[in-house]
Amino acid sequence: MKRIEVIHGPNLNLLGEREPDIYGGATLADIDDALQRRAETVGLRVRCRQSNGEGEIVSWIQDARASADGIVLNPAGYTHTSVAIRDALLACRVPTIEVHLSDPVSREDFRHRTVLAGAVRGRIAGFGTMSYLLALDAFRDILASR
Ligand code: DQA
Repeated sequence: MKRIEVIHGPNLNLLGEREPDIYGGATLADIDDALQRRAETVGLRVRCRQSNGEGEIVSWIQDARASADGIVLNPAGYTHTSVAIRDALLACRVPTIEVHLSDPVSREDFRHRTVLAGAVRGRIAGFGTMSYLLALDAFRDILASR
């Protein structure tokens, strides 16, 4: 069975209480439960982890070379700043789908830029929890053709 690492970035542990008008009412546990259910449906194995630390996320991306066939990554605030995460993705070459609950390009100007563009396979944004589930659907098809 193909393995997907789901990596949630900083402040996503606060979902449910964090700016619910933007991010909705689902908690991170709700999202991880939904991911586990969808993974069973599409025949993938997922592991979900969250970190507030840039270095830890870099290490998890490096580890995914040995442990995963794909990464679903919500880099959160690091989307807009992290050259280190970009470099890790380019070095490790594990296919990665960037996801966002909100649609950053419809928000403040500083969120319009993602430094990860070109280092990820693609990006799904603006669908709340469904952004993550659509990424699993995409991986089902991407990995089936390998
Ligand atoms: C986010 C969007 C980012 O701009 C923001 O910094 C986040 C969450 C999202 O899922 O919509 O923390 O990645």
